[in-house]
Amino acid sequence: MEDHVKLQYNGKTIELPLVEGSQQEKAIDIQKLRASTGLITLDPGFKNTGSCKSGITYLDGEQGILRYRGYNIEDLAANASFLEVAYLLIFGELPTPAQLTKLQEDINRESLVDEDIKIILKSFPKTAHPMGVLSSLTSALISFNPSTVDVESEEDMYNAIVLLLAKFPILCAWAHRKIKGLPLNYANTSLTYTDNFGHMLFKLPHQEYHSQPEVIDALNKLLILHADHEQNCSTSTVRVVGSSHAGLFASISAGISALWGPLHGGANQAVIEMLEAIRADGGDTSKYMAKAKDKNDPFRLMGFGHRVYKNFDPRAKIIKKTADEVLSHLGIHDPVLDIAKGLEKQALEDPYFVERKLYPNVDFYSGIIYRALGIPTEMFTVLFALGRLPGWIAQWREMRLNKEPIGRPRQIYVGATERHM
Ligand code: SDX
Repeated sequence: MEDHVKLQYNGKTIELPLVEGSQQEKAIDIQKLRASTGLITLDPGFKNTGSCKSGITYLDGEQGILRYRGYNIEDLAANASFLEVAYLLIFGELPTPAQLTKLQEDINRESLVDEDIKIILKSFPKTAHPMGVLSSLTSALISFNPSTVDVESEEDMYNAIVLLLAKFPILCAWAHRKIKGLPLNYANTSLTYTDNFGHMLFKLPHQEYHSQPEVIDALNKLLILHADHEQNCSTSTVRVVGSSHAGLFASISAGISALWGPLHGGANQAVIEMLEAIRADGGDTSKYMAKAKDKNDPFRLMGFGHRVYKNFDPRAKIIKKTADEVLSHLGIHDPVLDIAKGLEKQALEDPYFVERKLYPNVDFYSGIIYRALGIPTEMFTVLFALGRLPGWIAQWREMRLNKEPIGRPRQIYVGATERHM
């Protein structure tokens, strides 16, 4: 097999080495390109550009494969807890019972946020979007946990990671409680990680709260399915911000803002809003399919398409099945699920979507489950962020341990040439 490629330019031929990964993916290593030719590459959206070598998550967009540290997502979603998957992503192996117990105990000890965080929370209007609240409060946490900023040792990193894993679900729950005008719940460390989050989100002061195992199981599965996805927009943001050594919490706060966008994690909220609009419009999916295909119409079929998956998104298959299970278990008939299935069927038979290999992605069905679990639409992307937290942390830790250089792309300047006033 060739171990390099040749580039001919200006009468010269240079060799650029090929890099091959553990799954036989290949890349041209262009680190010496500019020094040897004066040329750079140009690739808007980084559609053809790898930013790093990573051992955390493997995707095969053609085969619809997603693995965390080598384990297929289907196995982890069916057999693991979210905290076990978080440990796997961050530290590279599934935890022994003793390792899991230690992580849970370390998290329990830190499952409190400074009471002054409530003053910041109080200053937001009830109309605030919870993703903006979450990003702000995550950044605010830095002031109350200064030891998490300048981390060099693995021990310092572990301590910052535990603080974030412990406090982040509290902020997620509090963002919801604030905009609903509900009193804030403290963590209940006698519960599992996912059950504790459900308790902080749902427990009302005037009623007994008993979590439903099927609800916690569905939440656990959804969090696992969202836990990491290699170098997506928000994870790349976390890695670039972290590469300046701005600290873990600042990097995650930036990742939350990137995830908020409707083309990325914000799509799960946009899907339900789209399905509701179709239902309110008489359920005419053909009209919306036409809009999605019309180049003059900015409307896109939310929850469809993916930069990497040019076949089905394996997460969407699991979530679609889970949606049927959860709704039938809870005795809910949600008309937007029927609309979603109708849209999927139409799109899979439509040349526009088939030619462009546009399939349902992770966001297409997830909102239907969140809704059935009683989670309001504006909180869907917060749930995505809670799920993605361990992936962001794992990618930040890998970048720091690999001592990767600060992320600073080049450009091709197309503006005004020199001129004088
Ligand atoms: C997530 O990267 C990740 O891994 C992300 C994620 C993760 O886990 O982190 O998987 C989570 O973000 C999933 C994606 C959620 N977003 C949406 O559902 C929004 C709708 N989807 C699109 O906006 C789009 O498909 C993207 C953003 C997901 C991907 O965009 P790309 O890869 O840049 O593709 P593109 O915009 O260049 O589209 C290629 C063609 C274009 O048509 P042509 O110019 O070739 O004629 O496909 C069309 C697009 O117009 N197209 C769509 C479409 N998605 C792409 N047309 C209608 N509806 C859509 N949804």
